[in-house]
Amino acid sequence: MSDTAFNQLVPYLKPQSGRCLWLADENLLSANLAANENITVITNRIDLEQHLFRQGWKVFFSDYDFSIIEDNSLDRVVYRISKEKPVVNHIINQAFRCLKPDGQLILSGDKNEGIKSYFNNAKKLFGAGENSKVEKDIWLAVLTKENEEPSRLLDDKNYPELRVTCSDQRFEYYSKPGVFGWDKIDKGSAYLIENLDSFLMTLIEPPSNALDLGCGYGYLSLNLSRLDIPVTATDNNAAAIRACERNFDRYPINAKVVAASCAEGITEKFDLIICNPPFHAGFSVDGDLTDRFLKATHDRLHHRGIACFVTNIHIPIERKAMQYFHQAECIMTNGNFKLVRISHSTD
Ligand SMILES: C[S@@+](CC[C@H](N)C(=O)[O-])C[C@H]1O[C@@H](n2cnc3c(N)ncnc32)[C@H](O)[C@@H]1O
Repeated sequence: MSDTAFNQLVPYLKPQSGRCLWLADENLLSANLAANENITVITNRIDLEQHLFRQGWKVFFSDYDFSIIEDNSLDRVVYRISKEKPVVNHIINQAFRCLKPDGQLILSGDKNEGIKSYFNNAKKLFGAGENSKVEKDIWLAVLTKENEEPSRLLDDKNYPELRVTCSDQRFEYYSKPGVFGWDKIDKGSAYLIENLDSFLMTLIEPPSNALDLGCGYGYLSLNLSRLDIPVTATDNNAAAIRACERNFDRYPINAKVVAASCAEGITEKFDLIICNPPFHAGFSVDGDLTDRFLKATHDRLHHRGIACFVTNIHIPIERKAMQYFHQAECIMTNGNFKLVRISHSTD
């Protein structure tokens, strides 16, 4: 899937003089570019880190941690804007700190993603800039650091900080911007946990271990801990991994977190897999991502195990799952969400 907004940045990623930083977000997985030794890449997606590493890029996987970059040290920062406002504002603020005087921040994005207001706010911070419409709703903005000191930084909701964002009778959940649904308990996930016991009754034996596929800040894993079995939580997003680790450190539970795309590299088999799957990659709906989650479930599920997926009732997850499994049926719904029980055998 080619991304028109990202394509505007490609000329800036070709060999040019000076030190450059490229912030790469999830919508760029299909990007194939020759590596450039003057460019450092930071990405918060482990799949993208692996993809770019294989192409020869100098790439770091982190929650957009700019501490590896000194003040006033860069000539150029290149960034196709992300979906979430605090992430974009954090990156614009940090670009200002890291750029040399007269250094440039190159942004691209769609009008519907707010590129025009990001440009206007960034221009106040930087002192100078040009914004041009390149195609339909796609804009390319070039900001120049004329101001020595920031007048007012953009509101990034204190991006790096992990904080308690929500709680229930059992847990207080640490989370942060950059994590899926970071400041709330997802209603679908809550529905899964409310009905976990009736779901587990369909197992012949109690599970001896569990996988939380696409764990976010770890809501499902924390609530599985009452089963007192080892839980592996996995996600491809660096912010989710940080938040989940923080929650697991806080409570005495038998759980570990693994950064991986669709559980790649995890070799263990599991009796129980629980999942509230993602349906969006970047700004677009990604049917292929659902398939990859189902394929990962197929590969990691023990032959006698069961998987429980919670989705919106309109998602045809049962039909998709039948490409990989002998059984996939909706066992419960509340009109908004459904719980789908998936297993290898028809027993
Ligand atoms: C709908 S959220 C569910 C989060 C969490 N389980 C909860 O219940 O709050 C889906 C999660 O899948 C993660 N995700 C998206 N693409 C992924 C991939 N390729 N590999 C692993 N996780 C991914 C997202 O980062 C997000 O945390």
